[in-house]
Amino acid sequence: MHQTTPDGLIAPHGGKLINLLATPDEAKTLAKEAESLPRIDLTPKQSCDLEMLAIGAFSPLKTFMGSADFRSVCKDMKLKSGDIWPIPILLSVKSPPPIGERVALYAPNGTLQAVMTVGETFAHDKKLEIPSVFRTEDEAHPGVAQVLAEGDTCISGPIKVLAACVDPEGPEAFLDHRLTPAQTRKAFAEKGWKTISAFQTRNPIHRAHEYLCKCAQEITDGLLIHPLVGETKEGDIPAAVRMDCYKILIDNYFHPDHTMLTVMPAAMRYAGPREAVLHALIRKNYGISHFIVGRDHAGVGNYYGTYDAQQIFDELDHDNLGITPLKFEHAAWSHKAQGMVSGKTFPKLEGDQVFLSGTKVRDLLASGQRPPAEFTRPEVADALISWATAK
Ligand code: ADX
Repeated sequence: MHQTTPDGLIAPHGGKLINLLATPDEAKTLAKEAESLPRIDLTPKQSCDLEMLAIGAFSPLKTFMGSADFRSVCKDMKLKSGDIWPIPILLSVKSPPPIGERVALYAPNGTLQAVMTVGETFAHDKKLEIPSVFRTEDEAHPGVAQVLAEGDTCISGPIKVLAACVDPEGPEAFLDHRLTPAQTRKAFAEKGWKTISAFQTRNPIHRAHEYLCKCAQEITDGLLIHPLVGETKEGDIPAAVRMDCYKILIDNYFHPDHTMLTVMPAAMRYAGPREAVLHALIRKNYGISHFIVGRDHAGVGNYYGTYDAQQIFDELDHDNLGITPLKFEHAAWSHKAQGMVSGKTFPKLEGDQVFLSGTKVRDLLASGQRPPAEFTRPEVADALISWATAK
């Protein structure tokens, strides 16, 4: 059983939620100071990471990683403290400032996001990071390509964050749904939920996803549908379109008393197994006790085996992990069984299950046709068709 907080929820990773947000008075002073500081322009991924750090979603991290944590995470999937951590969270730059200097960090849209005191600089050892995190060095892998494009020096040091959400007026702010870990915890406590399952996704919710969510709902007090809305790769469906689909689906097919929708502002890495562990630890910070891991979680192309992202959890210290992975086999609609099935619940019969490739689904939508109702709910299909045909 995991450690709990006084309100009966799972304890954050490392025991305590981090909060790097400046108070309004501090923010005013920092904004003034930043006018005369050297400027660092963050990439979209770094800006997302900074928001995750600021709101405590990356607890126990208090800043971008230093060299000792970086090496230990790459080699042993642990921080120096001994807490499990699977993926480096780095601020790599092209021209490093000197140690002791104060620097201003700007989001890609030009918003002043944070002020940092440089405490450490070190070489970005991509030869160590890439194969350990991605299990491949193929430059065609989107996560690998991203790391290769980053700077060669990493910087770390105490940080104060002025703006968590850097584009609060923008179409992807989702302010009504952008809850911090402290806020989801409060919401769960108010609902009286103690066990909560979470569903990570970067796609619209199709019938297989819905099946996983509902199985999880059967065994927990409530479900948090928690889509990733930070940076994703070219070709993934935009977060604003997905959010419309999630709302439509929840309104039509979920029980409002046992379902919540909030967003996770992290960037995708497409690192498969290691990213599944990161996704789970982040959700632990949001107060989640059970995390859904299905087929090829956070995978891309054919880089990972179908269940690699489940098997990695078997190698971890369960007490330190705390959160329980809910592992699901590949699910699909069976005509014979007249319902959703998986390899565990129904035998595979020739031509029985409804399977559509991503390309096939995109082609159908672009030509204004709904995928079969056994694959995508018609209301969701219509929302996707409106988007795909408006482009
Ligand atoms: S992910 O990058 O966020 O993992 P996606 O949104 O496709 O991508 O998947 C969300 C979750 O649903 C992941 O846990 C994934 O493993 C799971 N999943 C997706 N499709 C299926 C399926 N047909 N059967 C079982 N699990 C699935």
